Amino acid sequence: MLDIEAVTKTFFRGTVNERVALSDVSLHLDEGDFVTVIGSNGAGKSTLLNIVSGRYQADIGRITIGGRDTTRMPDWRTARLVSRVFQDPMAGTAPHLTIEENLSLAYSRGRARGFGPALTRRRRKLLREVLAPLEQGLEDRLTTKAGLLSGGQRQALSLTMATFSNPRVLLLDEHTAALDPARAALIARLTDEAVARQGLTTLMVTHNMEQALSMGNRLIMMHEGRIVFELSGRAKEEATIESLLAEFEHLRGGVGPGMSDRTLLA
Ligand SMILES: Nc1ncnc2c1ncn2[C@@H]1O[C@H](COP(=O)(O)OP(=O)(O)OP(=O)(O)O)[C@@H](O)[C@H]1O
Ligand SMILES: [Mg+2]
Repeated sequence: MLDIEAVTKTFFRGTVNERVALSDVSLHLDEGDFVTVIGSNGAGKSTLLNIVSGRYQADIGRITIGGRDTTRMPDWRTARLVSRVFQDPMAGTAPHLTIEENLSLAYSRGRARGFGPALTRRRRKLLREVLAPLEQGLEDRLTTKAGLLSGGQRQALSLTMATFSNPRVLLLDEHTAALDPARAALIARLTDEAVARQGLTTLMVTHNMEQALSMGNRLIMMHEGRIVFELSGRAKEEATIESLLAEFEHLRGGVGPGMSDRTLLA
């Protein structure tokens, strides 16, 4: 479904500030794969997502989504195929639009025609059904402006908007990091439910090791612009927070068991 082939991205190339954010990164996701992405600050995680979404273009390499080459597609076109949720709950929703207007916009994304300006009773019923499982009471506040919601409520709405249009690829960049523990757990659960229900092909960046292990069917660790190791299947189920932390330690040059050099443990 998603193929990232030998992608390299350098910022400020040829200047003193030159920074290789991604170095020859390859990753293949089958349809329905849910990959959690960990790695220290500056490892290249967000850059990887930005290249898949078309926000940045790769210097070298190729991206294909569902067989379509999107390497040089501008992000407004890739948006038909890819949805994102960011760390900032304010980023995914338009504050001056109501909940139903935000959802209608999300629904029309990737479609020739959306709901249109008139929200009929039937459509409102559908929106209420979509919002009820969020357990935020948003289904009774369709005409409330999104800017008036709490961070957790807005993130639940952002996630719903991102998944509503059935994207080919869902990108989550630390989307629970700005929330309190209870709200973060709720958003994690809603993410799991949406991905499972819709079989979404997903890349999720997180600094929360427990989340990285408990969510998804694969895990990758990035370091200095490369994917340095990968876990899937039983190996992922049996990995522990301690074993991941030991891996980080190993990367920093400390002593530890180390499974680096992209060992694939299935
Ligand atoms: N738009 C940009 N312009 C210049 N440099 C950038 C840009 N975006 C990222 N970088 C650089 O690329 C490298 C990778 O950054 P990236 O944001 O991908 O890291 P990250 O793994 O997401 O880190 P974090 O955990 O802090 O979010 C960093 O050195 C960063 O400074
Ligand atoms: Mg980042």
